[in-house]
Amino acid sequence: MNNRCILQIVLLLCFPTTTLSLSYHLLRLQQSSSSLECQKLLQQLNGRPEDCLSDRMDFKIPKEIKHPQQLQKEHAAFVIYEMLQDIFVIFTRNFSNTGWNETIVKDLLVELHQQMDLLETILEKKLGEENKSWGNSRTILHLKSYYWRILRYLKAKQYSSCAWTVIRMELFQNFSFINRLMDHFQN
Ligand SMILES: *[C@@H]1O[C@H](CO)[C@@H](O)[C@H](O)[C@H]1NC(C)=O
Ligand SMILES: *[C@@H]1O[C@H](CO)[C@@H](O)[C@H](O)[C@H]1NC(C)=O
Ligand SMILES: *[C@@H]1O[C@H](CO)[C@@H](O)[C@H](O)[C@H]1NC(C)=O
Ligand SMILES: *[C@@H]1O[C@H](CO)[C@@H](O)[C@H](O)[C@H]1NC(C)=O
Repeated sequence: MNNRCILQIVLLLCFPTTTLSLSYHLLRLQQSSSSLECQKLLQQLNGRPEDCLSDRMDFKIPKEIKHPQQLQKEHAAFVIYEMLQDIFVIFTRNFSNTGWNETIVKDLLVELHQQMDLLETILEKKLGEENKSWGNSRTILHLKSYYWRILRYLKAKQYSSCAWTVIRMELFQNFSFINRLMDHFQN
């Protein structure tokens, strides 16, 4: 964990009276650098998308997610949390067919985990019950199904190198989406 990240967590934990907006501001900064780091790590994993065109697949992104501007700030945090968690689970699956560097995948898992911890702190401390129950909302369920389809696809393709390349590209784009969601935290 780098120093900047530690500082931000300390700020969040030691000043529980700071306003919601300050936390979100820190979260946004932290999340956007974390997303970039994840994308950088994903780019270092081998596999050429142009070799895997016939394995492409439409995983049918939930329609609620397509219009992030309609989400409330609090709910966007849940969406991001769910995405990070599901992406984490995907990268714990068997990728031995890909020849990927295990150190890079491990770094990716650590990065995802740290970011989930930070989000969890905010979600736990700042949200009332009403907003917490949104974690079980239809949007989140649809999002879970989306990642479930990805897992099922990998399994059906027997974790082939090309299947992983397709998924790596899909998830790479997801981090750009997370950053777009994050921009709402500014308002
Ligand atoms: C992962 O897949 C490889 C190749 O298909 C297989 O040899 C290996 O046993 C699997 N590892 C695990 C932990 O399932
Ligand atoms: C895996 O990646 C790490 C970190 O980038 C690097 O130090 C290491 O040499 C790589 N290992 C292989 C086998 O390429
Ligand atoms: C839930 O979030 C909304 C803003 O989206 C806020 O107005 C409301 O007070 C929150 N409810 C609780 C119980 O914290
Ligand atoms: C993941 O990335 C794909 C490809 O860009 C995109 O269609 C999809 O909306 C993203 N999913 C999420 C949950 O952001």
